[in-house]
Amino acid sequence: MDKFRIIGGVPLTGEIWVSGAKNSALPTMAAALLTSEPVLLENVPNVRDIRTMAQLLDYEGVSVEFHDHTMRLQAAEIRRPEAPYEIVRTMRASALVLGPLVARTGRARVSLPGGCAIGARPINLHLAGLQQLGAHIEQVHGYIEATAPNGLKGAFIHFDRITVTGTEDLMMAAVLAEGETILENAAREPEVVDLAQLLTKMGAQIEGAGTSTIRIRGVSRLHGATHRIIPDRIEAGTYLIAGAITRGELCVRGCVPEHVAALTAKLRQAGVEIRQPTPDTLCVRVPGLLHSVDVTTEEYPGFATDLQAQYMALMTQAHGIAIITETIFENRFMHALELARMGANIRVEGRQAIVAGPTQLTGAAVIASDLRASASLVLAGLVAKGETIVDRIYHIERGYENIEHKLRSVGARIERIRG
Ligand code: EPZ
Repeated sequence: MDKFRIIGGVPLTGEIWVSGAKNSALPTMAAALLTSEPVLLENVPNVRDIRTMAQLLDYEGVSVEFHDHTMRLQAAEIRRPEAPYEIVRTMRASALVLGPLVARTGRARVSLPGGCAIGARPINLHLAGLQQLGAHIEQVHGYIEATAPNGLKGAFIHFDRITVTGTEDLMMAAVLAEGETILENAAREPEVVDLAQLLTKMGAQIEGAGTSTIRIRGVSRLHGATHRIIPDRIEAGTYLIAGAITRGELCVRGCVPEHVAALTAKLRQAGVEIRQPTPDTLCVRVPGLLHSVDVTTEEYPGFATDLQAQYMALMTQAHGIAIITETIFENRFMHALELARMGANIRVEGRQAIVAGPTQLTGAAVIASDLRASASLVLAGLVAKGETIVDRIYHIERGYENIEHKLRSVGARIERIRG
């Protein structure tokens, strides 16, 4: 398994370009199942989760071509409306094919995801919504079998709690359902809006994406379309934190500043100077001391759970006590223990992590447990004294394109050890 070797202590200086959003590319790829015509996606990040989704769609009979960040998908015919355990096990976002498969073919057989490093991550809300749209759902041998031989029917669906992929999955199911669907307490993430924009280009009738009430009027068929994926706000946020933690002067190019507003507000309070020299560029610099600032993760537009681990690494360098509260996933503090091995002073109490800083981190051998946890260990390594070895970096490759090249281009001493 490959590892990263990082020698800390270099302030990162220069600019980094953001790739397309993984969490937007995944549902938009699944949307290609809804039409027999070609769907062309631009700005698709070349990361492992995208390749896994491509593999899943290929298994189902979709033709997938991926060159130079452009992906052409065509589901002329769906051979197997299934998502096998071997693929769902490695990527929970595979559940995103459920809604489109039932909508297009009237049936789907999708493995249940099971547990995961950051929490239970059930898909009960996807299933309850599909049932309300008229699908019959059965659980057999670890698989969900959904059938709707006479098609789906529009319904009023109130989500018990906000779910991002659940909203996306049901939006894709509802676009081909007969009549009107209303999704209440829907997720407002930019990735939901991006998916709605693609679906609209494909001929769907959707109103309210980006608000908590989405109205969908079903149509009988959708056609092909071309769409450019939005920039990855979590990647952008990770690099903003990289600039701040190393006390460098780093500009993050090609981002949507509004999408990282919850993070930049916290960074400013912590003493980070943030400039926006162009509409899609943010630059960070730390002119004085860094101060501890509490954070609570929330659904968008709140502070993203996907930036919590990276923010925790930053708080190890801030003066004072920061209380970090995780409200979205129940088990998303695995990085705290690894950061502590590097010298951080962090106490975890249930859903809160209490970080006392600043501490001089020292390089150590650490293990990445999930995608964002591994990003936080890389950030810690960039500021630690001496050598940090981050093991199991396949986690980071799920969602960060060329991270070592991007970081090296702004001065970081990071290299891959093949093994
Ligand atoms: C999406 O996951 C993202 N993944 C995650 O990004 C992100 O952390 C998460 O949203 C929260 O922002 C993709 O977009 C592909 P949820 P998702 O359904 O949709 C509970 C990353 O690092 N829940 O919004 O799976 C659930 O357990 C990844 O890039 C149910 O109880 O998350 C969680 O506590 C990791 N029942 C909460 O809701 C359900 O049916 C929010 O989960 C669905 C969810």
